[in-house]
Amino acid sequence: SQNRLLIKNGKVVNADKIADLDIYIENGVIQQLGRNLIVPGGVRIIDAGGCYVIPGGIDPHTHFELELMGATTVDDFYHGTKAAVAGGTTTIIDFALPRRGQSLLDTYKNWRQKADEKVCCDYALHMGITWWSEQVQQEMAELCEKHGINSFKAFMAYKGLYQLSDSELYDAFQTVRNLGAVAMVHAENGDIIAKNTEKLLSAGIKGPEGHQLSRPEEVEAEAVTRACTIANQVDCPLYVVHIMSKSAGDAMAYKRKELMKKGKHCTLYGETLAAAIGTHGNRIPCTWHDQAAHVLSPPLRPDETTPNHLLTLLNENALQCTGSDNCTFNKNQKELGKDSFTDIPNGVNGVQDRLSVIWEKGVVPGILSPEKFVAVTSTNAAKIFNLYPRKGVIAEGSDADVVVWNYKAKRTISAKTHAHACDYNIFEGLECHGVPEFVIVGGRVCVDEGNLRVAQGHGNFLPTPINPPFVYEGQTPEVEVDHKENHQVIEEIREQLHGLTPNN
Ligand code: URP
Ligand code: ZN
Ligand code: ZN
Ligand code: ZN
Repeated sequence: SQNRLLIKNGKVVNADKIADLDIYIENGVIQQLGRNLIVPGGVRIIDAGGCYVIPGGIDPHTHFELELMGATTVDDFYHGTKAAVAGGTTTIIDFALPRRGQSLLDTYKNWRQKADEKVCCDYALHMGITWWSEQVQQEMAELCEKHGINSFKAFMAYKGLYQLSDSELYDAFQTVRNLGAVAMVHAENGDIIAKNTEKLLSAGIKGPEGHQLSRPEEVEAEAVTRACTIANQVDCPLYVVHIMSKSAGDAMAYKRKELMKKGKHCTLYGETLAAAIGTHGNRIPCTWHDQAAHVLSPPLRPDETTPNHLLTLLNENALQCTGSDNCTFNKNQKELGKDSFTDIPNGVNGVQDRLSVIWEKGVVPGILSPEKFVAVTSTNAAKIFNLYPRKGVIAEGSDADVVVWNYKAKRTISAKTHAHACDYNIFEGLECHGVPEFVIVGGRVCVDEGNLRVAQGHGNFLPTPINPPFVYEGQTPEVEVDHKENHQVIEEIREQLHGLTPNN
């Protein structure tokens, strides 16, 4: 029957090791691991021979049904999670973003309304700190304590819209730290960008190329350094989202080393994007639409050595996670910026293709091992955002979010065949090894021999408890886990989650 599955003959890849194991799944949970398992009759058997079996991807960065710069992203929570599952991602974490002055609690409720009935896989939420006040501070506490939100994203760019000053960032990080939550930051210097933009526009540079020119690498790197410095002053864990350049990645590595030299637990984390690994910003002879489709912030970099540099930082654990920042607008929506690059809605696709892109660019050339691939596409995000070990690992007691990854097969990425609602794909034409042949979401086979059969509303909201039980030490984020103890930890987390009634 549907709720009993045996995945046989595969090589199970976790962040710490590869092992020949069969997986017995019942009621959405991994019940047994081992060869020659004794299982009930009538169980569906999936043959994973010749394949890797990996924990479902966790995409810690999506924007589904987000209104931004006068347009609403076309991937809503149905199309977005459908695309995720099609590519082997079984959990997404979206950003609930209040407008300036808007209540965070109202925003949270609004996001739950947009998502709950539509999601095809489990999801959690980060909350945006898009303005700062006494009310925001109080609502952050309520979100943490009652609704299971443990991560808050502040912006150093989008001047006049979301940008916070350094003193506001200091207060916001202090608040996050006191709550036992994790701060997140969009690191670009918004004041410098505003100045450069004025200059470019008055020089008559209005096309999409102006976007990149207005925000060079050092404008990103400076903000990464500043954000880490502010976080360190108040001892706050900080996760820097979408690191897009070599110098910003190096800045992150430097700040981590500095902190570890002081003998402190390193709680500075960095994320890069599938977009930064799978493509680059050097598209001189492209059409307006193609250039506009690739506009996101921070921008793709013209330096074509950027992807390998970022992959090396991932391998060295200077960066821990890969996200998609899936924030898709159609060509006609991008045309809002026909007269000025400042009006092109920012955002790209990636939630479907993230695993394939990281595999193709990272594992195929030997920069990342398969275990490291699992760490940076799933496990590390689960640990940082407190979903581990329920998510991010193939272990007894964990949710049955499992992908049979045929690394010998190939596919070519195209907007013609993708599951997104958008009408372009920034990775168009990229040939990737690594095809998710089976994707099991909470015990349900949603990609079956390559055929996508998602169930709308099948996913659940995942409240993420505060005071993370897993803290990274020094250079190694890999936490040794005793799988027998796992049961107990998961039970505790479930209990905590239970206390956080998702509907209030
Ligand atoms: O260009 C981007 N990244 N759009 C989404 C919003 C954000 O800053 O993450
Ligand atoms: Zn951002
Ligand atoms: Zn984003
Ligand atoms: Zn057990």
